[in-house]
Amino acid sequence: MTDVAVSSLPPVVYDPFDYSLHDDPYPTYRRLRDEAPVFHNEKFGFYALSRYEDCSAAVRDFKTFSSASGTSLEDLKAQVQLLINTDPPVHSKMRHLIAGMFTPAKVAPLEDAVRTMARELLAPHLASGRIDIIADFAAKLPMAIICRLLGFPREDEDRLRHLTDTVVHRDEGVFGMPDEGMHATLALYEYFNADIAERARGARREDIIALLMDAQADGRLTHEELIGYIYILSIAGNETTTKLIGNMCYQLHSHPDQAALLRDNPALIESAVEETMRFDGPTQMMARTTTRDVTLHGVTIPANSKVALLFTSANRDERKFDRAEDYDIRRNPRDHLGFGGGLHACLGAALARLEARVAIEEILAALGDFSVDESSLERMHSPQVRGLTREILTFTPSGK
Ligand code: HEM
Repeated sequence: MTDVAVSSLPPVVYDPFDYSLHDDPYPTYRRLRDEAPVFHNEKFGFYALSRYEDCSAAVRDFKTFSSASGTSLEDLKAQVQLLINTDPPVHSKMRHLIAGMFTPAKVAPLEDAVRTMARELLAPHLASGRIDIIADFAAKLPMAIICRLLGFPREDEDRLRHLTDTVVHRDEGVFGMPDEGMHATLALYEYFNADIAERARGARREDIIALLMDAQADGRLTHEELIGYIYILSIAGNETTTKLIGNMCYQLHSHPDQAALLRDNPALIESAVEETMRFDGPTQMMARTTTRDVTLHGVTIPANSKVALLFTSANRDERKFDRAEDYDIRRNPRDHLGFGGGLHACLGAALARLEARVAIEEILAALGDFSVDESSLERMHSPQVRGLTREILTFTPSGK
């Protein structure tokens, strides 16, 4: 874009509560990086960093960019202690408790279960040549796996998914969680409390909640931290992976050359997942609160300000990635910020990578050369997560 073109445009505005941004935020991100790398949203009173170098430095500097006042732009009203909303030493203590359960080696044995479930979900749709890859597949798979890890019964999965979806939804232009979100949060706490009470009465089950209850029993975790841990695992492990699978189907459809490359070179699958995380990752931004005045690019962000770190803008920063706006599945960009970075880097990244890889492998194997029915697309609306809630794939029906 030329200087003349830039100066003839109105000043760039970043408003993550505006639904129109959610359709395609990338042109706005580009302008932010070029014209206002420290953007101040006066209406809502927060700042936004959009360049890779700045976001990457901020996630690594927890003393200046704290998570303890919450990682969304709204004020923190949580009644429970969430790992994601802590700084050291509380963060180190909490993360250490179950970090070992989510290493690549620990999640690898789940592959068979993920694959079997993926096949079961796809099978009923193969004869029709159509599937809503979100509602019928991507929304179900991650919830089923996280419920399995947390020891929740299969018949509760739909209800838990509905509640966690309601928690992340935001009404257009509204700063803050709608009443339905608050009710859903309370319903989740109630469910988790009932589950813990039932476990305390019955035989020990070998799962993540049992490990966390052990930590509570010997004083390493409070009740609020225990409930908060289960809550964040249920939310983080559900919505984002669903959206990653949907976004990847969409990007493969939109880039037929890349889809053909992947079909011809199945070994590129892990790199393709990584590139989708970089190019159109579900977690668009996370917030921090400054603990002191910070001056960047000539702008001083006062102490105690909310700062949005625009991870997917950082991932398209041409100062960091060559041809940043090109979707190239051979790139294998392991240093993107799609899973964050620093202390709070996604705990479930290995699981998300496994689920997305197996999901796409099974979709390609079962559906072959699919297309997205563009008229079917419906989008979720959240200031932090980007993805589809409805996405029909069409393909040659099996047996034809
Ligand atoms: C594609 C899927 C996923 C994406 C895009 C994603 C993204 C992220 C990001 C960006 C963060 C950093 C937050 C921050 O810096 O404030 C994060 C943290 C976290 N994620 Fe994920 N995530 C995904 C899947 C999962 C899964 C499957 C789980 C659980 C099983 C999970 C659990 C967590 C937890 C517990 C944290 C907090 C870590 C901490 O504060 O130390 N995530 N995730």
